[in-house]
Amino acid sequence: MAATHKEPVNITCVGPLNGMASALITWIDQRFPLMENWRSHLSEYYAPKNFNFWYYFGVLSMLALVLQIVTGIFLTMHYKPEATLAFASVEYIMREVPFGWLVRYMHSTGASAFFIVVYLHMFRGLLYGSYRKPRELLWIFGVVIYLCMMGEAFFGYLLPWGQMSFWGAQVIVNLFSTIPLIGPDLSLWIRGDYVVSDATLNRFFAFHVIAIPLALLGLVAAHVLALHEVGSNNPDGIEIKENKDAQGRPLDGIPFFPYYVVKDMYGAVVFLIVFAIILFFMPEMGGYFLEHNNFVPADPLKTPAHIAPVWYFTPYYSILRAVPPMFNSQFPGVAAMGAATMILFLLPWLDRSPVKSIRYKGPLFKWALAVFVVAFLVLGYLGTVPTNEWGQFGDWMFRAERATVAARFLTAIYFLFFLLMPWYSQIDKTKPEPKRVTA
Ligand code: HEM
Repeated sequence: MAATHKEPVNITCVGPLNGMASALITWIDQRFPLMENWRSHLSEYYAPKNFNFWYYFGVLSMLALVLQIVTGIFLTMHYKPEATLAFASVEYIMREVPFGWLVRYMHSTGASAFFIVVYLHMFRGLLYGSYRKPRELLWIFGVVIYLCMMGEAFFGYLLPWGQMSFWGAQVIVNLFSTIPLIGPDLSLWIRGDYVVSDATLNRFFAFHVIAIPLALLGLVAAHVLALHEVGSNNPDGIEIKENKDAQGRPLDGIPFFPYYVVKDMYGAVVFLIVFAIILFFMPEMGGYFLEHNNFVPADPLKTPAHIAPVWYFTPYYSILRAVPPMFNSQFPGVAAMGAATMILFLLPWLDRSPVKSIRYKGPLFKWALAVFVVAFLVLGYLGTVPTNEWGQFGDWMFRAERATVAARFLTAIYFLFFLLMPWYSQIDKTKPEPKRVTA
């Protein structure tokens, strides 16, 4: 196809290379919308000037995703997706491959880091009402990303073929068999066998290294495109597009490039420092990031006494355990666990407050959010401890049966936060929003 005749690109900041660089960019630009995209997504994308600490976590989620993909590629070069070889191949990576230990720990610790930054990123959404109109679809893409991340982490955890990999997968896949009618066939279909086996390992490998990462990359692109279509929210929760100058630029916006690129680079450096400290000094985080039992090869004949997922799943695991079985079936717990994630999709329509940001919301919403966060964290904690050991912490609160009651109560709080939101967000005493962002 003939190249279109666009104006030559004028670059003023590259010194002696100026002429050559602008000629090259002009050449590319006549064949590919390079500068158009650069302008619309970076140099002329106006982001609110009052971004704060919480706005680091979007770009950090991107960085964590890239880290996972790059380290994953190197792990795949040495890993063997075969039940009799998988565990030994991971040990080989840890002991024999030059810097294999580093790459493996970057990947396993990176998974937890990824969830930490994404949880903080989601929490920012809750703080500032970033899920509200016109950002509903952006939020929905986010929730799908979150579900894909859970799938990605679950599939990946089977790959080292340790005791926790094997028994964790066994427990989770068995949960599907509780679904009425289709359950048993469904779990057989997922496993590809009657027990977790080589067939399961092969398909989990395929999902972990290609299917889900591809979906994640596409979803992140859609997430950012949706964001750039409507523009970023900000800590005041007001729309900067409503106040523009004569050229149509938001008065409270600043170009993403260079201002926020520089700010995000600072955030990335701080993140990498913290990440490196954890990586070099406590990569397994006392069994929270990599469980001790996973350094024991999978043994289908020996069930570990305590099977628990990694910390980022434990709030949901607690919900699963808190809901009592009905007619001898675990399905109610499984359904509650599913509902606990699915309810996130409804959030944009549950919040009926006249204001978006927590800064202007009333005491009801602030209390509800605080109680919800505490409930989520305590559920997360309860999910890490075995039911028969719940008594070991303190005397009255954590005796096993009381801990079950606590988990039930917290599960109720988790759901009530969402289900009662249309009511308490509406009757809450909000403060008036400012017309312009408060810097
Ligand atoms: C791989 C995971 C993810 C990546 C790479 C990612 C990336 C980003 C980036 C770069 C931004 C713009 C910068 C910022 O506002 O911090 C953003 C904004 C946003 N993201 Fe995500 N995100 C991810 C997951 C999620 C999840 C799981 C949710 C929610 C369930 C979510 C909800 C949002 C919302 C609501 C905004 C707009 C925030 C605002 O303007 O105030 N994201 N995301």
